[in-house]
Amino acid sequence: MLLYIHIPFCDSKCFYCAFNSYTTKFKLKDDYMEALKKQLANNLKRHLINTNKKIETVFIGGGTPSTIKASSYKELFDLIKPYLIENAEITTEANPNSATLSWQQEMFDLGVNRISFGVQSFDEKKLKFLGRAHSSQSAIEAVNNAKKVGFKKINCDIIYGVVNDSFETLKKDFDIVKDLGINHISAYSLIIEENTKFFLDEKSLKKEKKSLKIDDEDLSYEIFDYLAKLGFKQYEIANFATSEEFESKHNYGYWKHREYLGVGAGAVACINNTREYSEKNIEKYIENPLSVEKEELSLEDIKAEKVLLGFRCKFGVEIELLNKNELKRAEDLITEKKLELKDNRIFNNNYLLADELALYILD
Ligand SMILES: C[S@@+](CC[C@H](N)C(=O)[O-])C[C@H]1O[C@@H](n2cnc3c(N)ncnc32)[C@H](O)[C@@H]1O
Ligand code: SF4
Repeated sequence: MLLYIHIPFCDSKCFYCAFNSYTTKFKLKDDYMEALKKQLANNLKRHLINTNKKIETVFIGGGTPSTIKASSYKELFDLIKPYLIENAEITTEANPNSATLSWQQEMFDLGVNRISFGVQSFDEKKLKFLGRAHSSQSAIEAVNNAKKVGFKKINCDIIYGVVNDSFETLKKDFDIVKDLGINHISAYSLIIEENTKFFLDEKSLKKEKKSLKIDDEDLSYEIFDYLAKLGFKQYEIANFATSEEFESKHNYGYWKHREYLGVGAGAVACINNTREYSEKNIEKYIENPLSVEKEELSLEDIKAEKVLLGFRCKFGVEIELLNKNELKRAEDLITEKKLELKDNRIFNNNYLLADELALYILD
């Protein structure tokens, strides 16, 4: 079982980001952490107590978990501890600005053993353009502090496909990541999301036939090749690790369609083929953290997700999932060398084609 904990606060709102996070509701932090505790206790009781299920990974994400003081996580960890497997992977996301040495140390002492920094770029101009509140230097310091504290598993998020990006500019970012001794990179192609500053800017740029986003298909392939040269093996469309040990077990769990609990405003859980959506609005969530909307997944939904997610990562797709017609189409793709069959699983080696391949195969 995986556990996701959502922190919906950020020090500032990046121009591209549509995640459920707020910069003006800091006075709600204490009440929010109380509500989280209630929802977590209820979830553990409903889904784990008196079962032999255990929590294998925890992911504290956001928003920005480093906007919450480390001591406020203590009671959440106390609740989780009895259910954790030995050596559970416990990740926190962090922003270079707020993840101070002492915050990182305290989180490490609570049991966090993987840290994921939202870096996006080491280029000052690009950081400003994206609306990031930190500098390249503070990102480097945050990573060095993580190493000082003793974190062995460190990730940097990088965004590409932004106007003015080129292979040369991105190469510099990846070289810095490599030189810092980081063992995991999440490289995301920019998405222009609704309800963001970029979305509004994009509307006016369209009139001049300009865009904030470049066509980055060729760039993606160049980046993937370069990361491979640097020793980062791609195991999912946007994720690269220097070895299997450093892959994100939590995220890989989602792609393998494992069950997960999700607590916090707007968090999602998926257990027994049912999705549970928590209240998104922070005030309403604090008032009633146990209210969830449920959605039962049909077998068809589950199959489509397994195929799509399986083709986007190295996990692949179990052949038994497919019906006769789907299998026939998959076999055609295997003959054309677009897919590979091994030990009753079908593997896709070009994750950028995952959606296309899944659409072609599925009825
Ligand atoms: C919750 S944030 C990471 C942690 C922290 N909030 C921070 O930004 O420092 C998760 C990651 O999603 C990526 N992301 C968010 N919005 C995106 C977008 N519109 N397009 C591409 N990547 C995006 C960013 O790389 C970001 O670091
Ligand atoms: S990218 Fe991270 S810091 Fe920026 S607004 Fe989104 S969640 Fe907050």
